[in-house]
Amino acid sequence: MSAVEREEDTVRYEIENNVAWVYFNRPAKRNCMSPKLNRQMLRVLEELEFRDDVGVLVLTGEGTAWSAGMDLKEYFRETEAQGLPGVRKSQREAYTWWERLRWYQKATIAMVNGWCFGGGYGPLFACDLAFCSDDAQFGLSEVNWGILPGGGATKVATELMPMRVAMYHAMMGENLTGPQAAQYHLVNESLPADQLRARVKQVAETLVQKNWATVKYTKDAVRRVREMTYDNAEDYLIRLQEGLNWFDKSDGRHVAMKQFLDDKTFKPGLGHYDKNKTEV
Ligand code: ACO
Repeated sequence: MSAVEREEDTVRYEIENNVAWVYFNRPAKRNCMSPKLNRQMLRVLEELEFRDDVGVLVLTGEGTAWSAGMDLKEYFRETEAQGLPGVRKSQREAYTWWERLRWYQKATIAMVNGWCFGGGYGPLFACDLAFCSDDAQFGLSEVNWGILPGGGATKVATELMPMRVAMYHAMMGENLTGPQAAQYHLVNESLPADQLRARVKQVAETLVQKNWATVKYTKDAVRRVREMTYDNAEDYLIRLQEGLNWFDKSDGRHVAMKQFLDDKTFKPGLGHYDKNKTEV
C-alpha cells in the first residue's frame, strides 16, 4: 500500500435491498484500523444511519481479514510520536465510531470473513449480531506484543464469554477458530465460508421486513437491561415501550393487532405482520 492512501478509500459500501454492506477496505493491511480508517468509518456510518433505504447494516472486510485490530504503525507508533494529544485523539476517533455503532439506529450485523484481532473486538461487540466463517480466526493478541487488551477488548471478552474462557483467551494469546467463537458466544453462528454471505443476507432481509422502530427499541433494550437490576429493568422497559408507542408513527402494534385479531392474515408466533398495510 502506498504512503498516499486516501482516507475515503479505507471504507467502502454498497446498498442492496435495504441492506448496507460496509467493508473495512485495507485488504493489503489486513484491514487493520488506522486513524484514517476510523475517521472514514464514522463518516460512512453517519451517512447511512438515517437513510430511508437502509434498514440493516452489515460490517465485513475486504480480502482475507475482517480486521487485524489496530494499526500498530499508524494507530500506535505514529500517534505516540505526537505525544499524549495524538494518542488521545486517535483513541477518540476509534471509540467514537464503535460507540456510534453500539447504539446505531438500524440493526447491525458483523460478518466476520477472516482475521479478527484485538481492537476488532470493539466493532464486533458493537454489532447486534455476528456471523463468521469457519476459517475465521479470533485473537486477543495483545499479550503477545506487550500490551493488555484495551480499547474495550477485555470488556468484550468478559461480557460475551465465561470467565475461564475469557481469562485463557486474554492470557494465552491463542486464536479461536470460527466454530470455537460460536461455541463461546463471540458470534451467533459459524458457517462454511461459501455459505456465510447467504446466511447473513437471509438474516438481514428478515430484519428489513420488520418494523424498524421496533427493532431499534428492542436492541437498545437488550443492551441496556444487562446492567440493570430486575426491578429497574421492568420499569425501564415499560417506559421504553411507551416511548416506542410515541416514536413509531406507523402505530405498528395496532396495525399488527388488527391483522391478527380481526383480519386473521398473520400469526405473531409464526412471523411478522405486513408493515406495508397500515390500517389499524
Ligand atoms: N498493524 C499494522 N500492520 C498490520 C497489521 C496491524 N495490526 N496487521 C497486518 N498488518 C500489515 C503487515 O505488517 C503487512 O504489511 P506489509 O505488507 O507492509 O509488510 C500486511 O499487513 C500484511 O500482513 P501479513 O502479516 O503479511 O499477512 P498474513 O496474512 O501473513 O498474516 C495476520 C495476517 C495474522 C493478521 C498478521 O498480519 C498479524 O499478526 N497482524 C497483527 C494482528 C494483531 O495482533 N493486531 C493487533 C491486535 S491488538 C490491538 O488491536 C490493540
